[in-house]
Amino acid sequence: MDPRYVALLVAGLHVLTCKTWALVEVSMEDRVEVFLYNQASIPCIYNMNEKAMIITWSKKLPGRERSKVLFHIEGERGEIDDSGYTGRISYTHSYNSSESLGSIILTIDKVQLSDESEIICMVKDNTLADQGEGHTQLQVFNAPSIPAIVGTHNGISVDENKPSTVADCKVDNVYPRPNITWYRGTFPLQSSNDVKIMDRVTKNPSGLFTVYSELHLKVVREDEHAKFYCEVNYFTPGEKRMMESDRINITVFYPTTEVTMWANPSEKLLKEGDAVEIGCKGNGNPQPIFTFIHDKNELSSENELLVFKEVKRSDSGTYVCQILNLDTYTEVEDSIDIMIHYLDEIVVTPEKRVLDQGEDLTLTCNALASLSTHTEWYKDGVRVSEGHVLKLHNASQNTEGMYLCKITVVSLPELQKQTSLHINVRANPKITEEIVVSPMNKADHSVNLTCVAQGYPIPNITWHLNDRQTGEPLTESSVEYHEKGVGVLSIISVKANSEFTANCTAFNELGITSASRDVTTFARGPTTTTAPHTKATGITVPPKQHQQGGSGVIIAVVIICLLLLAILGSFLYFLYKKGRLSCGRSGKQDFTKENANKDEIGMKSSKSEEAVLLQGVNGDKKSPTE
Ligand SMILES: *[C@@H]1O[C@H](CO)[C@@H](O)[C@H](O)[C@H]1NC(C)=O
Ligand SMILES: *[C@@H]1O[C@H](CO)[C@@H](O)[C@H](O)[C@H]1NC(C)=O
Ligand SMILES: *[C@@H]1O[C@H](CO)[C@@H](O)[C@H](O)[C@H]1NC(C)=O
Ligand SMILES: *[C@@H]1O[C@H](CO)[C@@H](O)[C@H](O)[C@H]1NC(C)=O
Ligand SMILES: *[C@@H]1O[C@H](CO)[C@@H](O)[C@H](O)[C@H]1NC(C)=O
Ligand SMILES: *[C@@H]1O[C@H](CO)[C@@H](O)[C@H](O)[C@H]1NC(C)=O
Ligand SMILES: *[C@@H]1O[C@H](CO)[C@@H](O)[C@H](O)[C@H]1NC(C)=O
Repeated sequence: MDPRYVALLVAGLHVLTCKTWALVEVSMEDRVEVFLYNQASIPCIYNMNEKAMIITWSKKLPGRERSKVLFHIEGERGEIDDSGYTGRISYTHSYNSSESLGSIILTIDKVQLSDESEIICMVKDNTLADQGEGHTQLQVFNAPSIPAIVGTHNGISVDENKPSTVADCKVDNVYPRPNITWYRGTFPLQSSNDVKIMDRVTKNPSGLFTVYSELHLKVVREDEHAKFYCEVNYFTPGEKRMMESDRINITVFYPTTEVTMWANPSEKLLKEGDAVEIGCKGNGNPQPIFTFIHDKNELSSENELLVFKEVKRSDSGTYVCQILNLDTYTEVEDSIDIMIHYLDEIVVTPEKRVLDQGEDLTLTCNALASLSTHTEWYKDGVRVSEGHVLKLHNASQNTEGMYLCKITVVSLPELQKQTSLHINVRANPKITEEIVVSPMNKADHSVNLTCVAQGYPIPNITWHLNDRQTGEPLTESSVEYHEKGVGVLSIISVKANSEFTANCTAFNELGITSASRDVTTFARGPTTTTAPHTKATGITVPPKQHQQGGSGVIIAVVIICLLLLAILGSFLYFLYKKGRLSCGRSGKQDFTKENANKDEIGMKSSKSEEAVLLQGVNGDKKSPTE
């Protein structure tokens, strides 16, 4: 016996409602609530001088007048009267004589829906003269499944006259009957002219309910963004609970009353070659079929979109987007102005590109554009002027160069064109560098001679080679020619075993100039001679100086050695005379010293001889005095 029940019931004994007030006071709870298939404990408390001998439990179904005995206790024996309870009923019975209180608790296992009823506990005293009874309502509950919602897949037009089906909600296996409430957003929906809620309840063979609820609405535009859901309210032992379904949205159809055109990109200025999209958007749902018109011509659109991969200036103009409102048979339209900017190819006038010295030239650089432009001139990569006119004054050698005219659209810098032109200034040929002689090729005794000349028109170079001994002309074995800018470079290869004079002559229609150089190839390579000059008479430094330079040094060294020997001799003689020198040892010492000196001098001279030799073989240009 559960002491909790006893305490509770004893405390509330006199306030509890007792259906029967006979000599035996019986008290029971108003109701006992239990989940389906759980266990129900129904207490029955009586007040008597002795332990009750006969207790009868009966049940009264709702709406019935009579009750039916389901279980009775006589003394210590309990007996089931209703076969529906076989194996499911047990009880406890106790009596406290000091308080004169008896307590019976009937326990029903695996409670079924059919158990729901009014349970009556009747207690008789042992004389069977007095009796009393108590009543308890046994209530059974089953919680439902989560409500399942299904929204309509069809769009709903706001023009429908009657409410349209919006969603279905289903709740399964619930007892007792629950309530379903519909919500739009956070607001519960109540039946009205615009809202119809249709509920349907079915009872399973087991006695549980399945509840369907259907929501019908006259939709408005705002329902496009609304979330709908259903909520189930149901009872459980001791409390009322609720569960919500998922949220759904619906598709709402409404007519287009306004269209708006757009272009992408929209902010920046458009130029030829840009990719542009032009589209149209209506304020209705679904989007209507648009007609695009440009300059009175109907255009075909791709997916309701005008797509230009590379716009041209001819695409400029007003674009119109039109729809026919089928409800009102009125046309709705919008338009947009598109301007495609452009910059044409540059034209530089005049065509003249060759100037005479001192000549003036005014160059004009122009390009047709749809917006204002800015023009800059560059000469050899350096900015020299702004504006489309470039004035060249008193043309000189410095005027020559690569000119570039660059035109930029001020408000659309990506729109830019440029063109370059070479300006030449007529000039006499000029030999700009002295003739360069390469080291001698040991294999075939050839040297390369290089001569560089400038002038415009670009000068031609011719060579004259004369043997210095015989005065015979030599022939070059190969000629190479390289033009660079306003200059020209000529390289010839000459086979020569003797000294010769190379004369490089540069000429064009304006004049002639030449330079010459003496070349010594056989001894120790070529020697420097004249600077380039335009006069016929070259200043030739005689190369013999260098040739005799080597033997001259040797002679000088020999003379100096002899002089030193003479001085040493006289010094030794002087010491000998003074008697301060013993003959043997010191003489020997000095002799070796002298030898060492001689060696040193000899080595020096031989070294320079070797150097000359080597240089000769290698064709080295180093001066032998080094
Ligand atoms: C009877 O009730 C009294 C008072 O509540 C308690 O003290 C006593 O233990 C009870 N006797 C029995 C046999 O339960
Ligand atoms: C269902 O609605 C009725 C009437 O409004 C109400 O009496 C009942 O308690 C409700 N049931 C639940 C489970 O909320
Ligand atoms: C509901 O809304 C979602 C996004 O919020 C959208 O993807 C879906 O298409 C909508 N469904 C209907 C039926 O309108
Ligand atoms: C033109 O340039 C030359 C040298 O470059 C100069 O001697 C002459 O005075 C200049 N003439 C004028 C008109 O500026
Ligand atoms: C001369 O030039 C030619 C070609 O440039 C080259 O093959 C040759 O080796 C040069 N000869 C000498 C001696 O430098
Ligand atoms: C300059 O030389 C080129 C080839 O080397 C030749 O074709 C041309 O006729 C020459 N010009 C003159 C003016 O001799
Ligand atoms: C080079 O040869 C030309 C033609 O033979 C001659 O007129 C000129 O004077 C010579 N120049 C020199 C510097 O020897």
